[in-house]
Amino acid sequence: MPLVTAACLLEHAQANTYAIPSFNFHDLVDLQAIVTAAEAEAAPVILMASEGTIRFAGFPYIEALARVAASQAKVPLALHLDHGRELDNIMKGIRHGFTSVMFDGSHLAYAENVRLTNWVVDVAHRAGISVEGELGQIPGTEDDISVAEQAAGMTDPGLVAEYVERTGVDALAVAIGTAHGLYKGEPQLDFDRLAAIRQAAVIPLVLHGGTGVPDATVRQAINLGICKLNVGTDLRLAYTGSIDQALKEHEINDPRPLLDIAREAVIEVVRDKIRLCGASGQAKAIKAQL
Ligand code: 13P
Repeated sequence: MPLVTAACLLEHAQANTYAIPSFNFHDLVDLQAIVTAAEAEAAPVILMASEGTIRFAGFPYIEALARVAASQAKVPLALHLDHGRELDNIMKGIRHGFTSVMFDGSHLAYAENVRLTNWVVDVAHRAGISVEGELGQIPGTEDDISVAEQAAGMTDPGLVAEYVERTGVDALAVAIGTAHGLYKGEPQLDFDRLAAIRQAAVIPLVLHGGTGVPDATVRQAINLGICKLNVGTDLRLAYTGSIDQALKEHEINDPRPLLDIAREAVIEVVRDKIRLCGASGQAKAIKAQL
C-alpha cells in the first residue's frame, strides 16, 4: 500500500479517541523494527524523520526506505518530516515523497510563525500532503529551563483558534509540559491548558516528548484530545543499550547479530507505545476507508 497522509490517520484517531503512535527513525534497523511492531499490533503508525536524520542519511535514502516499507506493509504508514525549520527541507521533503511535514516556527515571533506556516500549508496542500504546526515552544530537557520559563513557553489557548484559522494546519503540536529527551523528574502536564486548547481547536493535537511520560498521563492526554504521540529517545535507548549490553556479554565482530538484537529491542518498545496509544487493531478500519 502507498504511504498515506498523516491527516488521514489522525482523522480516524480523533473520531475514535486514540493516538497515532509516531516514531523517529534513522536507518533500516529501527525502521524495520517500527514496521514489524506495527504489523504485529495491526496498528497505523507515522514514520518520522527529523532534519538531523536527513543530515545523517539524506532525503533519497529516507524516501527509498519508507517507500519499500509501505509497499510491503499490511498496515497504513505515513512519512512525516519532524520539526522542519528550514523551508528548503520542507520543499525537499515534499518532492521526496513525504506525506506530511511539520513546520516548526515555534522559535519565531507569533506573526512570523503564522505567516510561514501558512505558506507551508499552501504549498503542501497543493501537493496533497498534510501539515503539523507548533504554537508555544516544546523545550528539550537538555535546555535546563526553569518552571517559570517553561510555563512562559507553553501554548497560549487564547491564540489557538486564530492560529489554526490563519495557518490552515491539519494538526497542532502543543507545549503543555512535555520536553524532548530524558526528564530529570516526572513531567507535570498542564491538563487545564490542554482542555482549553481543545475547546479552541477542533483539529488533532500532537504531544511531543513522549519518552518518559507516565502511561496514565499519556492516557489522560489522549482523552483530552491528543491524537498523535511522538516518541524518539526511548527507541534510541533500546537500540544503543541493547548493543552495548551484547558487546559487554559476548565477543561479536559482525554487525548483523548486533543489529538483530537492536531490532528486537526496538520492536518491544514500539509495541508498548502502540498499545499505550490505543492504536492496536485500528489498521483494518483505516484501510477500509482508503
Ligand atoms: P522524545 O525523544 O522525548 O521521545 O521526543 C520525540 C519527539 O517529540 C519528536 O518530535
